[in-house]
Amino acid sequence: MWKGRFEKDTSDLVQRYGESISYDWRLYRHDIRGSIAHATALKAAGILTAAELVKIKKGLTKIEKEIDSGTFEFSTQLEDIHMNIEFVLTKRIGPAGAKLHTARSRNDQVALDIRLYCREEVQQITSRLRNLQIALVGCAEQHQSAVIPGYTHLQRGQPVLFAHHLLAYVEMLDRDAARLADCLKRINVMPLGSGALAGSTIVLDRKLVAKLLDFPAVTTNSMDAISDRDFVAELMFAIALAGTHLSRLSEDVILWASAEFGFVSLSDAHTTGSSLMPQKKNPDVAELTRGKTGRLYGNLMSLLTTLKGLPMTYNRDLQEDKEPLFDSIDTIRIALDVFAEMVIAMKVNEAATMAAASDPFLLATDLADYLVKRAVPFRSAHEVIGQLTAHSLKTGIAFQDIPLEVYQSFSTAFEQDVYRVLDVTTALKARKGIGAPSPSNITRELKKWKRQLQPKASSKRK
Ligand code: ARG
Repeated sequence: MWKGRFEKDTSDLVQRYGESISYDWRLYRHDIRGSIAHATALKAAGILTAAELVKIKKGLTKIEKEIDSGTFEFSTQLEDIHMNIEFVLTKRIGPAGAKLHTARSRNDQVALDIRLYCREEVQQITSRLRNLQIALVGCAEQHQSAVIPGYTHLQRGQPVLFAHHLLAYVEMLDRDAARLADCLKRINVMPLGSGALAGSTIVLDRKLVAKLLDFPAVTTNSMDAISDRDFVAELMFAIALAGTHLSRLSEDVILWASAEFGFVSLSDAHTTGSSLMPQKKNPDVAELTRGKTGRLYGNLMSLLTTLKGLPMTYNRDLQEDKEPLFDSIDTIRIALDVFAEMVIAMKVNEAATMAAASDPFLLATDLADYLVKRAVPFRSAHEVIGQLTAHSLKTGIAFQDIPLEVYQSFSTAFEQDVYRVLDVTTALKARKGIGAPSPSNITRELKKWKRQLQPKASSKRK
């Protein structure tokens, strides 16, 4: 397509090295949509006749259908999706096709295609995040009264409702969705018309193109518009961070499914056996998700590294944005889908979580709070309960079985009602501040999330 100034063909090896059609073919719908909008602007500027525009639209639509159905033949000689489509179009419809690339470069064309693609994927990933949130809320609701120990340093800390633990992930995923929505603002800017780097002497109505493609704004610096990929990096960061959250949840699920915890059992559909050890049931989905998060980070690093040394403006290095982007998108999409499926089918062993949560030491802080409410300074209370803990460990007598006189020998502030503190239900009920896991708070939170996650009726439809 640039044969004018060249005497020799590109070497086979260079063709293999430089082709991107093997992966950027997935941009075809966006490329075609962008070309039709561009052709419409060319017609408005008097470059194309109405008849030529019709030919182009028909030709492109036909190509789109062929790619959809798998009958279109791609050629690596034509390097990328842009040239594959333009070449076949021109071969089929002649001069009208040859006019399509007027006032356009592959540089602004690919920038547009990626923006259209990212925009669509933001919606796809967001709806998958929502699905997983719904699955988590569903599981939390089903086990609303289940109590588990809350951990710090993976040591038992204080009792919480299992639902509170799951809702923590619902919060994280909500911020992931918010990050995507924010990133979308910067994706959603129309770059076409920036040309190779300096616009064009043939001036097209960029706002018309933006309107046709549903962009609320156009880019305002042609050099920036064709060379920057910060919106891709942002999207890949948002994906990587969603991966972090999934990976943490994976780690929890892996621990919970172990014999040591025994808090949950995963469905056979989401576990695998061992080829050697017949008793094994492995939480592979969670392990794979934890593992694949590494790829999400790697993909982000790969793009950032590609971008960091580029002089203005377009450099072919930029073609390296696509494979990591596509991989991150494919990875997060399936991870979110499979996780939602796994959470829905996960069984919670409430007896096991309750047994673990009945560890009396989980109420040590509540005992200290008891003293505080009787005017003992917290630091002294902390020390007293520390000594009581040591006493309990040494004698093997649990908090609720220690006689009142013994309590009083540690602090005179103890009275008969101390035993009322030593109950998980009381402990949970007392945690009623905003954001704390009292049962009434959790009921309210579950209701809130269910309302928020309800699929909204499309406002566009009349
Ligand atoms: N396949 C190329 C890419 O992904 C399209 C842009 C090519 N532009 C160029 N000047 N060679 O970046």
